Amino acid sequence: MPKEMLPVVDKPAIQYVVQEAVDAGLSDVLMITGRNKRALEDHFDRVPFIEQTLEAKGDHEKLAAVRRPSELGDIHYLRQGDPKGLGHAVLRSRLHVGNEPFAVLLGDDLIDERDPLLETMIEVQARTGGSVIALIEVDPAQISAYGCADISELEGEEYVRVNQLVEKPAVDEAPSNLAVIGRYVLHPRVFDVLETTGPGRGGEIQLTDALQTLAAAEGEGSGVYGVVFRGRRYDTGDKLSYLKAVVTLASEREDLGPDLCAWLKEFSAGIPK
Ligand code: G1P
Repeated sequence: MPKEMLPVVDKPAIQYVVQEAVDAGLSDVLMITGRNKRALEDHFDRVPFIEQTLEAKGDHEKLAAVRRPSELGDIHYLRQGDPKGLGHAVLRSRLHVGNEPFAVLLGDDLIDERDPLLETMIEVQARTGGSVIALIEVDPAQISAYGCADISELEGEEYVRVNQLVEKPAVDEAPSNLAVIGRYVLHPRVFDVLETTGPGRGGEIQLTDALQTLAAAEGEGSGVYGVVFRGRRYDTGDKLSYLKAVVTLASEREDLGPDLCAWLKEFSAGIPK
């Protein structure tokens, strides 16, 4: 099963990510997929047999839930082909995107729907005309799992200027403890840069390296800015974070929360039923 299809409460992780894009006003979604990801296309497609059965039964609630993924947005698919890295995957979208700013959302990262990160990033992109990344503060020992940013504060602004980016630096070489997470709003100039970006860390074409070039460039579409995110984020690629996402999101639901929370109290007190 593709990891993007892992259920988080009662929906696959990827559905939260598409919903986030649509909620931010981005309803034209291009998924860059690869081998064994066909389940993703099926999930966002209509399911006539199940829909007919539920319709005949008059189960409108379940019918709406089954139809929701196919009604979310205008979803397109493109296979990456050679898995040459995130930068290469982004470059594959060039024809679809054309010459306008666009967002990149990585399927592993879930951002709580109450925290409007993507909307903020879109506003910052429009104001600066550059590219925008999302950053979180991490324990310095963890920085080597992420792209890392050296930044300067901008007086009176809630976003920062990115001076330098390094993909997965060694702990003692990291310029900060600010880690890049899986949300980007990019100027299309990044495509020109990606065309000439050679393999970086791990032999892959790194989006981080292309953004480092843009951070140091001048002229239209140059400059990289960061929004430091302090809201709720879950990394479904990490087992503990995935479990926390399921429990947190379920505990906040009206239909599941009260019973789950009561059970969790008993469970943590050592008297599970
Ligand atoms: C990618 C990026 C990295 C970023 C991370 C966020 O790495 O290359 O800069 O910090 O996503 O999740 P990956 O996790 O795909 O190796």
